[in-house]
Amino acid sequence: MAKNTPQPKQNEAVSRRDFLALGAGALGLIGLLQTGGMALQFLAPRRVDGEFGGVVAVGPAESFPPGSVTEFPDGRFFLARAADGGFLAVSRRCTHLGCAVSWHAADGQFACPCHGSHFDLIGDVQNPPAPRALDTYPITVSDGALMVDTAKAQQRDSFAPEQLVYV
Ligand code: FES
Repeated sequence: MAKNTPQPKQNEAVSRRDFLALGAGALGLIGLLQTGGMALQFLAPRRVDGEFGGVVAVGPAESFPPGSVTEFPDGRFFLARAADGGFLAVSRRCTHLGCAVSWHAADGQFACPCHGSHFDLIGDVQNPPAPRALDTYPITVSDGALMVDTAKAQQRDSFAPEQLVYV
């Protein structure tokens, strides 16, 4: 090897150009992560208590007489109280194609305006084409008030006595 040939330095410092490229890459990665985080936040289900998707406080059990149905439009459900005092939080979403059912007190039935399905007070199908009973939501009791968690729809084929909640 010639004595005067320049040798590359083993621990040469990072050049200004490399440093800027690294910095730009890091900033780009941070921006990408922020954008991804915002997108995930936007797509995540919204849980606002008192509205559909959150927990809805419906009040004390004694506010609802046996054999009654009370609509909670913001929660998109009906609180049904069976004749024996048991409660069910019944979804208003028809199990056929998802239209909103309404309660017809005179007939004692939920009716779907789209294709004519009917359901009784506890959500069982009385008239198809709905293939199964209306979904329900879990009911808990807090400080004497009934709470309905509308984030957790419970599918069922038909009514069973153990679905009723007693306070
Ligand atoms: S959506 Fe209710 S009967 Fe079709």
